[in-house]
Amino acid sequence: MTDVSSSPPVLVSIHRGDYRPPEWRVPDIALDFRLDLAETSVTAALAVERDIETPSPLVLHGDGLTPEAVRVDGEVWNDWRMDGSDLIVDLGDRTAATVEVDTRIDPSANTQLMGLYASNNMLCTQCEAEGFRRITFHPDRPDVLSRYKVRMEADKTRFPILLSNGNCIDKGAGEGGKHWALWEDPWPKPSYLFALVAGDLVVNRDEFVTMSGRKVELGIWVRAGDESRTGHAMQALKNSMAWDERVYGREYDLDLFNIVAVSDFNMGAMENKGLNIFNTRYILADPDTATDADYDGVEGVVAHEYFHNWSGNRITCRDWFQLSLKEGFTVYRDQSFSADMGSPAVKRIEDVRLLRAAQFPEDAGPLAHPIRPDSYQEISNFYTATVYNKGAEIIRMMATMAGPERFRKGTDLYFDRHDGEAATCEDFVRAIEDGAGLDLKQFRLWYSQAGTPRVTARVEHDAASGAAQLHLTQNVPPTPGQPVKVPMPIPLRIKAFDRSATATQAGEQLVVLHDAETVVPLGQFAASPQLSLNRGFSAPVIIDFERGADELGWLAAHDDDPFARYEALQQLMLDTLVAAVSGKPGHRQAVIDAVAETLRGREADPAFVAEAVLLPSEAFIGDQMLTVDPDAIRRERLALQDAIGAALESEWRSILAEGAPPASILSRKAKGGRRLRGVALAYLAATDRADVPSLAFTIFSEADGMTERQAALATLAHGDSDERAHALDIFYQRYRDNPLVLDKWFQVQAWSMRPDTVDAVRALAQHPDFTLTNPNRVRALYGALTGNQAAFHQADGAGYRTIADLVIALDPKNPQTAARMIPPLGRWKRFDEARAAMMKAELDRILAQPGLSRDVTEQASKSLL
Ligand code: ARG
Ligand code: ZN
Repeated sequence: MTDVSSSPPVLVSIHRGDYRPPEWRVPDIALDFRLDLAETSVTAALAVERDIETPSPLVLHGDGLTPEAVRVDGEVWNDWRMDGSDLIVDLGDRTAATVEVDTRIDPSANTQLMGLYASNNMLCTQCEAEGFRRITFHPDRPDVLSRYKVRMEADKTRFPILLSNGNCIDKGAGEGGKHWALWEDPWPKPSYLFALVAGDLVVNRDEFVTMSGRKVELGIWVRAGDESRTGHAMQALKNSMAWDERVYGREYDLDLFNIVAVSDFNMGAMENKGLNIFNTRYILADPDTATDADYDGVEGVVAHEYFHNWSGNRITCRDWFQLSLKEGFTVYRDQSFSADMGSPAVKRIEDVRLLRAAQFPEDAGPLAHPIRPDSYQEISNFYTATVYNKGAEIIRMMATMAGPERFRKGTDLYFDRHDGEAATCEDFVRAIEDGAGLDLKQFRLWYSQAGTPRVTARVEHDAASGAAQLHLTQNVPPTPGQPVKVPMPIPLRIKAFDRSATATQAGEQLVVLHDAETVVPLGQFAASPQLSLNRGFSAPVIIDFERGADELGWLAAHDDDPFARYEALQQLMLDTLVAAVSGKPGHRQAVIDAVAETLRGREADPAFVAEAVLLPSEAFIGDQMLTVDPDAIRRERLALQDAIGAALESEWRSILAEGAPPASILSRKAKGGRRLRGVALAYLAATDRADVPSLAFTIFSEADGMTERQAALATLAHGDSDERAHALDIFYQRYRDNPLVLDKWFQVQAWSMRPDTVDAVRALAQHPDFTLTNPNRVRALYGALTGNQAAFHQADGAGYRTIADLVIALDPKNPQTAARMIPPLGRWKRFDEARAAMMKAELDRILAQPGLSRDVTEQASKSLL
């Protein structure tokens, strides 16, 4: 007999095609909060106006709420009922009314971190996508835009700071040690952009003068003691404001811009109008506690959220299927900004690496979806690498095809045409079409077809005539629900090099593939040319192009596009590693020679060199194989690392002997120098030379900043030296009171290549400093484990069991973060039968849990398909 009570809930799918405009508009909202950690009362007054002819009840969504009282135009109202969690208010034939609802919530019990919740004795909100309905009843859809007035009252000692969107227009003292503040946001906004914060916070203040000469007061709010670590975020904010004026002509539109950092946060940050709320991880940075990568993360996320003020807030999304309208475009904008602030080549390499690590596997697995999905069960599951990062690539392709001036005309038209609206992806494409003068008819397929296109390339050279041709074919693979695909426009920047020529080469061209097959004439060449293809990664595709070690080595040394040089060397390494895993000889010597050649450029651009000489990740090697063999991949990658480490030992040693640039210097060159030192240490460590632990320990001990310290600790963590234990202990004692740094301590242990890492993770989960209530901590331990391919896929299935146990334990507290741990288990089709069976069994075990959330149910059940 089957136990019906434990079968997962049948979930309702929401379909993009079912969109209907709202029946009621809500032009004005007044919110009145009496705040406290455990009991907060909310009165919401919604001025509603009917937008359709026929009378229709007002449907207000709620989640975990009970209405305590309902009033219409000031009178107690009894014509309401609950339909599930929705509040239905019958307004008869009225076409306008003010509907007031009283509710009561307990922020301290809100472990989901959606809606109004408590974190470190402060109160804050997260409303995107559907968190507002956990605060008060509301249509809670992004195409309902309202002007908000927010009154907050709270105990003055415990909550001296009261913040919301827009401007503070009044404040005063209340009874019984309370005080209040009244905030008003003049810009109509959807409910997901509402925010409030109450707590004991200190501020780093600054100001920015906009291009039209308006002064904007800037504030970054943190807990006392953290204010000295907000300088980098503040500088990033000012740089972002200036950049958006210069590059997109977008000026900030309020007199105040506040950022608040909170420790408990599901995502990176949130772009609430005039009051961004951040994960502390993307605000706090100083050289002692943050790595260079952390600094870049702060800069990128501060920019991202700031840029949303136009791409997201002034123009928002009509419905959540349009999420990439704001996220893809805003990621593209923050990527361009970071490229301008640092090294464009290195930034592009990092972005492509992330795309390949997170998005390509998603696009190739059971959770594949177009950047504009067609259906969802829980929208929180669609804040994905596809919507964000592939979405950014789709914008980038339009920018590449248009060129900078015409692309700017397109975005100007978009901002002009849709300012103040809730728009669609289609609106964006049409604005680029009209403004930039592009025909994007076929290009729209990028919004509807999932799957990473594969492009096969072949160069033909006719020795007699000298004519060379490039033959290209494209294929978009089937994905769930999309068995048959049609060709898409694929813009490829290409350049053909004549290896024998000493004179200048012909230039680069942009070829846009439209059909399944394309032939591109390349011109006359004495010998078959060397082809540089998809330069700058102009299209998010996989290229199949058979090239010998000699050709790849030449391109790695001579291509004038740095990204293409990086790609050539990566391909050479990848070919060698894939061959080695299947027991075939690769091009080991060619790899060593190419790394040696690349290292010669290290004085000029250490950051680029560090990226270029890094071996492809174990996961990326696995992605090239029919069936992933995690143990062989680890073994062969380490063997190649050992070979490169040994062959170029004196190089690595001299890089380390040169000493580190001072941690306080954050120039491109200094950061690059530190990155290269980390790579050098890793190569040296792979050789198992007897002095490596002491060398790493010396670097660890003498480091004047976190970049060097963490790199040395991570290297030690792979081994079993006495120095390892010693360094971990020193690190723990020194930083046990700094949560963000303690995350690193958990993370390096879960990243370890030691054979006992899964056991170590299980043990660390019992550590007094481990907690399921902090998403950063969960990601530091378990997210690092799923990123550790050989450990997660340990042959006995302990890695899978560990993650499934976590999902089951975390789901009742925080379904959103629990659901994000499931996709690694969904990759079972890529592994051998024994592993696949164990992965599926864990997904089944998760689904058999009673009372599972919608978030986890959707991800786990789709992962089994
Ligand atoms: N809009 C935010 C950003 O991209 C992300 C918020 C997502 N929140 C969520 N609960 N899914 O910066
Ligand atoms: Zn965003």
